[in-house]
Amino acid sequence: MLQRTATTVENVPLAERTFRIRLHVPEIAAAIRPGQFVMLRLPGTTDPLLGRPFALYDTVLDNQQRPVAIDVVYLVVGKMTSLLAEIHEGEAIEVWGPLGNGFLDLDQPKQVTLVAGGIGQTPFLAYARQLLGQRGYGGDPARHITPKVTLYYGIRTAKLAAGVEDFERAGASVHLASDDGSIGHHGFVTDQLRNEKPPGPWIGCGPEPMLHALMKLAKEQGKTCHVSLETPMACGFGVCFSCVTKVKTPDGWDYKRVCVEGPVFDAACLEMSG
Ligand SMILES: Cc1cc2nc3c(=O)[nH]c(=O)nc-3n(C[C@H](O)[C@H](O)[C@H](O)COP(=O)(O)OP(=O)(O)OC[C@H]3O[C@@H](n4cnc5c(N)ncnc54)[C@H](O)[C@@H]3O)c2cc1C
Ligand code: FES
Repeated sequence: MLQRTATTVENVPLAERTFRIRLHVPEIAAAIRPGQFVMLRLPGTTDPLLGRPFALYDTVLDNQQRPVAIDVVYLVVGKMTSLLAEIHEGEAIEVWGPLGNGFLDLDQPKQVTLVAGGIGQTPFLAYARQLLGQRGYGGDPARHITPKVTLYYGIRTAKLAAGVEDFERAGASVHLASDDGSIGHHGFVTDQLRNEKPPGPWIGCGPEPMLHALMKLAKEQGKTCHVSLETPMACGFGVCFSCVTKVKTPDGWDYKRVCVEGPVFDAACLEMSG
């Protein structure tokens, strides 16, 4: 894990209360892989004292195709994210990472279905590019893993849809769902999934109730399902045990730290999957 002070390149709105911040931090950009995350902290303040975890949205390449910056997309929900929205170009942010395990290996599937709820689309842009063989990450060369990536993306209302064009540009086919019917399918993304039963594996990220519904459905359908958890975290690198989740083991149950052994888990191992 590296700890660096990054310079903000830009911090732009993508949707209602949703921003994309670009941080110039070449060593972390070169090392990080899809599904991993970074902890961000504002320097010179003790409120909030602790860093906050954010998924890699994507890395940014320079003219020589070297990764030099990372993009993070965040929804303003509380203290840190409100302050983050006030950051300007040139300002410093403390970044440590890469953290977590990243997405799990898949066995050359014909299609991968990504399922996002709320701000849960953020880990999927780099992953879509990796799966489609457009980019290698963490020093690996680009490699085709699947010819087709579909993103099912559920939000409360149309104004919260963030980054849809980025996914389309990356070559993913995007299916939107909204609770209020203002965009896409009217209803929960998991209901849309139940109706359309897209080919698997299914990879999910979003609020717990959505992940519960996804894992239950995947189990009924006999699908491989991996989920990226957004459990609140204090340290982010394995020392405080504030982030544990219960997992099945051959001997019964155990607790795993989401920040180190996750955030991505095979749903078949999680207690949440029933
Ligand atoms: C591995 C990982 C990756 C993440 N990636 C992203 C991302 O890419 N973009 C993004 O916007 N957010 C992401 N999150 C969630 C993000 O860390 C929280 O939104 C952030 O910590 C909120 O900080 P805050 O100081 O603004 O809010 P706080 O003032 O700390 O909290 C505001 C409210 O949000 C609740 N809250 C805080 N953290 C979480 C959480 N993790 N889940 C549910 N409720 C929470 C609090 O209980 C409180 O009610 C991720 C979380 C994890 C664990
Ligand atoms: S956040 Fe401290 S152990 Fe996971």
